Amino acid sequence: MISLDLNNIPDLNLDGHDVPRFLEQIHARKQGFYQVLDDEDMMQQILDYSAQVKNKYQNIVVLGIGGSALGTITLRDSLSNFFVQDSPRLHVLENIDPAFLAEALQALDLSQTLFITISKSGGTPETLAQYSFFADEVKKAGLNIAEHFVNITGEAGLLRKISEEENIPMFDVPEDVGGRFSVLTPVGLLPAALIGLDIQKLMAGARAMRDAFLSENIQENLAFQLALVQFNCSQKGQSQNVLMPYATKLRTFSAWFAQLLAESTGKIDETGNHVGLTPVPALGVTDQHSQLQLFAQGPNDKLVIFMRVKNHGTDLNIPVEIDHEKINFLKNKSFQDLLDAEQRATADTLAEGGRPNMTIEIDQLDEAHLGQLFLLFEGATAFLGEMFHINAFDQPGVERSKVLTREYLS
Ligand code: PA5
Repeated sequence: MISLDLNNIPDLNLDGHDVPRFLEQIHARKQGFYQVLDDEDMMQQILDYSAQVKNKYQNIVVLGIGGSALGTITLRDSLSNFFVQDSPRLHVLENIDPAFLAEALQALDLSQTLFITISKSGGTPETLAQYSFFADEVKKAGLNIAEHFVNITGEAGLLRKISEEENIPMFDVPEDVGGRFSVLTPVGLLPAALIGLDIQKLMAGARAMRDAFLSENIQENLAFQLALVQFNCSQKGQSQNVLMPYATKLRTFSAWFAQLLAESTGKIDETGNHVGLTPVPALGVTDQHSQLQLFAQGPNDKLVIFMRVKNHGTDLNIPVEIDHEKINFLKNKSFQDLLDAEQRATADTLAEGGRPNMTIEIDQLDEAHLGQLFLLFEGATAFLGEMFHINAFDQPGVERSKVLTREYLS
C-alpha cells in the first residue's frame, strides 16, 4: 500500500474541505482515465495480441512522444532489469534528432523488430515522421509492414487512415483519455505486456487507488491530500514541485510526473491569471550531491516530494573492514539502512530550514504499486485543476509552436 507522510507540511488542515464538490467538478469534465481501468475488452485484446506475438521479435520499438512515450518509459525502467538485455528489448524513440534515429536504425535488426506507433491525435508530426522513416526502411528491407508494425491511435486522424491502408493492426486510445493520462490504456499497457510485465496487477493497483481518489472521505483520499499540499504550498510561494524518489528505477517516473504536472497545471485561469506548478525531477541520493544545495538554501519556492520504497526486494550489507571514524557508522549496516537514513536526514534538514516536504512511501516497487502511483498523481492533478480553476486536461499553449513549425516548413 501507499502512505503519505505529511509531517513536514506546516499548518496543513485536512478538515473542512468540500471533497464531494471537487469530485463533482471532475466528473463533469467527463474524463475517462479512471473509468478505463474497468475496460475488460481492452485488456483482453492486449493480452491476446501479446500471446500471439510472443517470442516473435527481439526488439519492440515505440515511436511516440509526450504522453505517448513517457508512461511506457516509466513502466520499463521501474519494472525491468537495467543490466540484463531482456528479449524482447523495449526501446522508446521519443525524439527526432537524426543522430539518435540513425543509431537506432543501425542497431536494429528490422526482421526482428516490432514497431509500435503511438499517437492519440494521429497527426503529431514528429511521430508521423518517425513512422514514415521506419516504415520506409521496413519496406526497403523487403519485409511486410503489417507484420512489423502495430499502431495505437484515436478515432480519427491520419495514423488511423495510414494503418487502415497498410493493413496494420491497431489498438484504440479512448477518446476521453488525454495523452498524459493514457499510460493505463493500450498506450502503456501494450508495450508493457509485450515485455512480460503483469498488466493485470498494474490495473488492480490502479483501481485500488482510483477508489481512494473517488472517496469523499479526505482521510482515505490520498490524491486529494497530495493536491491540497501542492496547492497550499503554491499559495505560499512554493510553486515548484521537486519529485525525488529514492530508487534509481523510479528516475523516469519523475519525467512522467513532470509532463503531467506541467502540461496540466500551467494555464491561464478563469480570471486571466497565469497559474501552474513547475515540476523539478530529481533522484535521491544522487541529487543530494547536485540539486540539494539549491533546495536547502536557495529560494524557498519549492515543495519537495520524496518517494521511498520500504522494501527494495533485496538488500546488501556494506562490509566495513577498516576502523576509521569516517566509516565506522556504516559497520553492520546495509544499503537500505544508508538510503533510508539519507532520505530521513534530507527531509529533516529541509524541515529545519522551513522548507516544506512530504514523503510518499510504497511497500515495494512492483506492478501493483506502480499502478497506484500513476493513479495517485493523476487524481491529484485532476483535483489541482479544480483548485486552480483551470482545465487540467487541455494544452492550448503548445498549439502556437505547432502552427509555426508547419509554417516554417511550408
Ligand atoms: O498530454 C498530451 O496530450 C500531449 O503531451 C500528447 O501526449 C503529445 O503531444 C503527443 O500527442 P499524440 O499522442 O496525439 O501524438
